[in-house]
Amino acid sequence: MIDLHSHILPQVDDGAANLSEALHMAEMAAVSGVTHMVCTPHFRGEMQSLRTLPEIARQFTLLKQAVGGAKLPLTLSCAAEILCTPDTVDMAAAHRLPTLDGKRYLLTEFYFDESPQYMNACLSGLAQLHYTPVIAHPERYDALQRDAHLAEYWFRHGYLLQLNKGSILGAFGSRVQHTVHRLLADGAAHLVASDAHHAHVRTPDMTSLTRWLRSHCNPAYAEILLLRNPRRILDGRPPVPV
Ligand SMILES: [Fe+2]
Repeated sequence: MIDLHSHILPQVDDGAANLSEALHMAEMAAVSGVTHMVCTPHFRGEMQSLRTLPEIARQFTLLKQAVGGAKLPLTLSCAAEILCTPDTVDMAAAHRLPTLDGKRYLLTEFYFDESPQYMNACLSGLAQLHYTPVIAHPERYDALQRDAHLAEYWFRHGYLLQLNKGSILGAFGSRVQHTVHRLLADGAAHLVASDAHHAHVRTPDMTSLTRWLRSHCNPAYAEILLLRNPRRILDGRPPVPV
């Protein structure tokens, strides 16, 4: 299984507090069947990114060395979860945003109460630059909870929808859970990821998630969400149609 969204890198955002917690998280992921984890620290606009980019690279090197030293069967790569701010499209145009595949897939997030107009303007600005937005946890946005057609609209425009493990399992409340289960039932999902932040809460352990998906979804659908589409995104290929 491939986990495309995690805050495992220490000391760069609200994720892992230190290298020891990050290593513990890597071990939890590997034990639960994850073979490749993408480190996607929060990346919030021009001023912050200028400060944090070198630090992200430094922490990534340290974590890779630690995971290698511990002989964990886990491949790591590094990207970011990009909050769509007014400077995002300009930064994308200047090729200054880290992508999931090193080319065109951008993991994007919004403030939870963001308007659909703002979201769509940002997404279409990125698409016009030939980036493909991978929308992080769409089920957590108010706009999508209110209007199911928004997911359909995003899906039709070729934006990818990444659901969160915690949303599916009910960690963010019944409204989020109801929304995410509806997306799954409608086939309006491309992949599921942990969005792990810590070793004690919001963890990268995928055991409960895989159990839930196996008992509620067609096995082929679960494989698309957990393995096939994440692999295709990393390889810069289009997702498998659901
Ligand atoms: Fe995240």
